[in-house]
Amino acid sequence: MALPPQFLEELRSRLSVSEVVMKRMRLQRAGREFKAPCPFHNEKTPSFYVNDQKNFFHCFGCGAHGDQIGFVMRHDNLSFMEAVEHLAGEAGLQVPQASPQERQQYERQKSLYDLVERATKYYERELFSPGGRNALDYLRRRGLDDEGIARFRLGYAPQEGGPLRALLLEAGYSEADMVEVGLFKRAEPGRPLRNFFWNRVMFPVTDRRGQVVAFGGRVLEGDGPKYINSAENPLFHKGNLLYGMSRARQAAADGQRLIVTEGYMDVISCVQAGFEGAVAPLGTAMTETQIQVLWKLAPEGQRNPILCFDGDNAGRRAAQRAVERVLPILVPDATVRIAFMPDKEDPDSLIRSGGPDAFAAILDRALSLEDFIWEMVRQGEDPKTADGRLRIETGINQMMEKVTDKSVQYSYRSVLREKLRAAIRASGGGFGGPGGERSVGRQRRLQPGDVPVSRLWDSRFRSGTLRTEPRRRERYLVLAIVHHPELFQEVGEILAGAEFADGEMEALRQALVACLTAESALDAEALRRHLSGRGFSETLDSLLNVDTPKFAQPGASFETAKSGWQEVWLSSEDGLLQRELRDAERRFAETFHEDDLARLRALQRELLILRGHADDLTERDG
Ligand code: UTP
Ligand code: MN
Repeated sequence: MALPPQFLEELRSRLSVSEVVMKRMRLQRAGREFKAPCPFHNEKTPSFYVNDQKNFFHCFGCGAHGDQIGFVMRHDNLSFMEAVEHLAGEAGLQVPQASPQERQQYERQKSLYDLVERATKYYERELFSPGGRNALDYLRRRGLDDEGIARFRLGYAPQEGGPLRALLLEAGYSEADMVEVGLFKRAEPGRPLRNFFWNRVMFPVTDRRGQVVAFGGRVLEGDGPKYINSAENPLFHKGNLLYGMSRARQAAADGQRLIVTEGYMDVISCVQAGFEGAVAPLGTAMTETQIQVLWKLAPEGQRNPILCFDGDNAGRRAAQRAVERVLPILVPDATVRIAFMPDKEDPDSLIRSGGPDAFAAILDRALSLEDFIWEMVRQGEDPKTADGRLRIETGINQMMEKVTDKSVQYSYRSVLREKLRAAIRASGGGFGGPGGERSVGRQRRLQPGDVPVSRLWDSRFRSGTLRTEPRRRERYLVLAIVHHPELFQEVGEILAGAEFADGEMEALRQALVACLTAESALDAEALRRHLSGRGFSETLDSLLNVDTPKFAQPGASFETAKSGWQEVWLSSEDGLLQRELRDAERRFAETFHEDDLARLRALQRELLILRGHADDLTERDG
């Protein structure tokens, strides 16, 4: 009985060769492969190898060779169907029972592959016939020699479709078959067939096994769309194939980077220049499935393909769209990198004008996904201003909400917030150096020994009478709420999650949160009475006696109070760090993973340093 090829593919993808072999004998890791003494002949030193990337076992001693099924057939002494049933059991798959129709369909699919293969050979021959002269010249002008042409199986579809039709009829195919795979069209029932590709250079598109399933056809010059592509057919689903993928899979297994370009010619130029991991989608933007296919092409630990885009604005936008498609399907250990071509160049033209080195330099500068997202969200925003910071943080949150995988979301969010904090520091909103001077090298990571002496503020605070330090800031934040309890509606959540450094202010903060959570409609008078009743009258008196910025004064409008409050809150790195810390705590509570604990500790330490408690730290770590 014939099994559908998809089922066998599925079986092979669920069980790696090494897994299957290891259930039956011991295997020893040897780099990317496994080895062992051969089970099929007598030997002392191992010459039996298993390679999961190439999906086979091979014995250099006796020549035994095959895939998962082949191994089980030989090792367990089973027939093909028995081995398949066995493996399906191990993989938790149901062996499809072939109905007569299914069997017929399978036979038919097999023969459609053959039909397309015959057409491919025909187009290849035509390129070197007198009629293909122009097409051949065209390809030569584009830098292809005979070897390159043969390698990519490029061809030429002549004006007339008659000869191809005759050839296929003679091979036993019906006109319906030719229409089904998209090589011919019938405008109306009863009318003769018309060839879909004519007077075009033909680029055969192969599936993961390297069988031709579709074509792209490029016009030589003149009218019509530049490229036309086969329509979807039983052999070809655009959305999960990539041009060049069977070669790229091999290249990736050999350690080459995967590169996604835009077009057929880009892939060809890349491969000719030694970048064998190049692929391209087929005339559309990359789909989610294609991205997942791409990840699977690379061995684990190397799932970071480089997506190439034009350097212009349209290219930037395309990159953003691609990233937004990637975020929801991100999984641990899989990501993408983003590279931008120089202006007006595609990989093909760049390699031709600047050589492989020029292209390699662009690839080496590819942005990691987190760096690209960072650029996206901070573009046009000024981290020196509270507004800018708020928008950057909002941008980070919006992007991160698209990430479905929680652990991936957590780690990207951390990295991005860390970048934001670094930008705040670098913009002067963070630490001053000793004595409050703005020091150089502020971008370096905090060390436990660092003692921030004073914090620098938004220009308005800095230039005014106020030289603010964290404890004074906490007073303003509290005081503004005391005067404007209605602010709590807006900022209550933030205030509830905060933790103040000054013990007195921290107590007052907790009391405020408690009062206003219980009774949200308190006015300033009533709130003060409540607080006095809880023993805060002295604290309140001393608070009311300090110089206060306008937003925290009783006379400020709601809007002034609100924007002032938010600004003071946001202008500190402290707030961000606290949010980060809360996330890290939640994360650790979920995972109990030591990496997460280490991160939590690092953040706690950073917060202590930020608050001037570095001495405590030194003692504790002493
Ligand atoms: P480009 O227009 O960027 O072309 O299309 P290119 O690859 O640089 O082509 P050359 O160098 O002029 O030959 C990129 C890809 O978009 C698809 C094709 O897959 C092409 O390779 N495309 C383009 C179409 O499907 N139809 C078109 O009309 C144009
Ligand atoms: Mn091009």
